[in-house]
Amino acid sequence: MKLLVTGGAGYIGAVLVNKLIDAGHQVNVIDDLSNGFVENVGENANFINGSILDNDKLNRALEGVEAVFHLAAKIRVEEGERQPELYKKVNIDGTLNLINKCIDKNIKKLVFASTAAVYGDPEDFPVNEDSKVNPVNVYGLTKLEIDKYLEKNAKSLGLSSICFRFFNIGGALKTKKGNWLKIKHEGATHLIPSILHSSNEKPLLIFGNDWSTKDGTPTRDFVHVVDLVEALIKSLTKLEIPGNQIINLGTSTGSTVLEVVKTAELALKKTISYRFTNRRAGDSFALVTSNEKAKQVLGWVPNKSLSEILQDAQAELLANH
Ligand SMILES: NC(=O)c1ccc[n+]([C@@H]2O[C@H](COP(=O)([O-])OP(=O)(O)OC[C@H]3O[C@@H](n4cnc5c(N)ncnc54)[C@H](O)[C@@H]3O)[C@@H](O)[C@H]2O)c1
Repeated sequence: MKLLVTGGAGYIGAVLVNKLIDAGHQVNVIDDLSNGFVENVGENANFINGSILDNDKLNRALEGVEAVFHLAAKIRVEEGERQPELYKKVNIDGTLNLINKCIDKNIKKLVFASTAAVYGDPEDFPVNEDSKVNPVNVYGLTKLEIDKYLEKNAKSLGLSSICFRFFNIGGALKTKKGNWLKIKHEGATHLIPSILHSSNEKPLLIFGNDWSTKDGTPTRDFVHVVDLVEALIKSLTKLEIPGNQIINLGTSTGSTVLEVVKTAELALKKTISYRFTNRRAGDSFALVTSNEKAKQVLGWVPNKSLSEILQDAQAELLANH
């Protein structure tokens, strides 16, 4: 099948492009390289260096395409608070631009990368697709805007779409050629990169140890990027009937920050220095999802462990940085 991956030079997009090509698909990629690496794309994909806001480039990227995986986005929560207009422009206007172009070109299949951030500080543990949405930051708001747009309009537009709400993604991919796809570490504030970059001089900061969890630190749901991409690829066969589906992608198993630190110490065979500091505004005590719907709809079960996520993330860091 001929496919487009937007944001295909980024962290998750590059793994997806690699796996789609391995599976025999023809892949176009559009990415403005604002947070990606061209070398991640590989010579077998057709790379277009440009923005989803650029109509000419987008037209080229969509030529002959049957389905679109839309991953291009601005993704940093703190940056979104400082530059809300930029986040709205890329994540909302850019996505609507892409959807309109798909409709114009009679492309009916769309997979959208949404996020657990739409649930904000959820009341449910674990959350599911019917849990209340209440994003607490601009990034989550921009993603929810598209989820809502597709829920409301996909069917009447004749579009078959899935909004996947990704939980915390970690790990890395070593390609068949033997290289690790590159991950951008600069500015990354996620827990696993922060653990890998911690040292005695610069200990990991843990935001709060007084949450109502078993050890007082927040609980999160970590999925290996290779497992996540398997779910995305499986969804290609589920895009036949017009309408939108929302599916959470997580392991249904929560790990507290301290549990991740302990697992990292065992998996990476080193001591992780950390220090507690105040809670951050907008954080939640737990963000873990049931994956019953993903199992039912896709037959998807993630199978990589937290140790594998940490080991692969460390291997990428050692190989590429
Ligand atoms: N990594 C996670 O844990 C996580 C969790 C939830 C949701 N997501 C979603 O998954 C998707 C991929 O995330 P990621 O972690 O790979 O991020 P990433 O930043 O590595 O990838 C996004 C890519 O989009 C590109 N891009 C940004 N603006 C663009 C534009 N205007 N036009 C074209 N390309 C543009 C960037 O250069 C980058 O290569 C995003 O939509 C993100 O919101 C990621």
